Amino acid sequence: MSKGLFITFEGGEGCGKSTQVKRLKAELESRGIEVLLTREPGGTILSEEIRRLIKDQEEDAPCDRAELLLFLAARAQLVRNVIRPALAAGKYVISDRFSDSTIAYQGYGRGLSLDFISAANDFACEDLKPDITFLLDVDPEVARARMRSRESATHTAADRIEKAGEEFHARLREGFRALAAADRERIVTIDANGSPDEVWNLISNILRKVIR
Ligand code: TMP
Repeated sequence: MSKGLFITFEGGEGCGKSTQVKRLKAELESRGIEVLLTREPGGTILSEEIRRLIKDQEEDAPCDRAELLLFLAARAQLVRNVIRPALAAGKYVISDRFSDSTIAYQGYGRGLSLDFISAANDFACEDLKPDITFLLDVDPEVARARMRSRESATHTAADRIEKAGEEFHARLREGFRALAAADRERIVTIDANGSPDEVWNLISNILRKVIR
């Protein structure tokens, strides 16, 4: 039985999740809360290997179905070996992406069956659901500008999924919005077009109502 709190962050590329996730961790720790920060795909040795395959394998790039199954395998390992034990120990777990990303990217983005993905997500997570999800919603032009500046600051190129094209990214944004509309209890949509401080203020206002 879970005693901790499970918080996830979702959104398209360049939405600024990673910055906010670190800020939330620091804020919770300053209140004496034990926090486990993880990311998806990733967070275990196996799941980080899968992350590398999914993001960078260009020569034999995973087909859409293989890509879906790889994300699910990474998730099953992370939930079983990391997230559930941490929650059971009373920790707050923050995950940079979780199962909503699969519905948005592989369902709405790649066009794979939403019903199948939903059932497969439940199987992979053993029915674990986040207690609260922050969906960082950002206009496509703002997202593109952020990605360009990140690429030049870190001297890295866009990965296979980041390069998937404007229509793909528009579809997955619609997917995230549809998910949020269908579950307003759990998913809080945050306008992420502002500066990191502005976005953090929106998140911390919500947090006050959630933290026990
Ligand atoms: P990121 O954590 O740096 O955003 O990279 C993860 C990438 O994988 C990102 O492009 C979103 C994508 N993704 C999916 O397509 N499906 C998923 O289920 C997850 C967790 C991520």
